[in-house]
Amino acid sequence: MKKAPVPYRKTVFVCTNVRADGRVACGNPGRGGVELCAALKEGAKRLGLKGKVRVARTGCLDLCEQGPNVFLYPDGEWLSGLAPADAESILKGLT
Ligand code: FES
Repeated sequence: MKKAPVPYRKTVFVCTNVRADGRVACGNPGRGGVELCAALKEGAKRLGLKGKVRVARTGCLDLCEQGPNVFLYPDGEWLSGLAPADAESILKGLT
């Protein structure tokens, strides 16, 4: 095992999990998780956060009914019920 320092100051984990069986999931059509992730990635680039803030897709964070959900690392903050329009304020809160 090789240990290395975290390459980003902050990481925004965005649930984009999709379920085809009818159960609720952040990435299902109409839920907004995929669009939120795209808005966060675009916003990070536009705000000059590339290399400082990493926006990463993640699987289920186990609060599906409250999604779309985001987990901020290393802050340990959890955000729920988000929409793509929230991307900018999330990113500005990290700087
Ligand atoms: S599908 Fe997003 S938290 Fe479960």
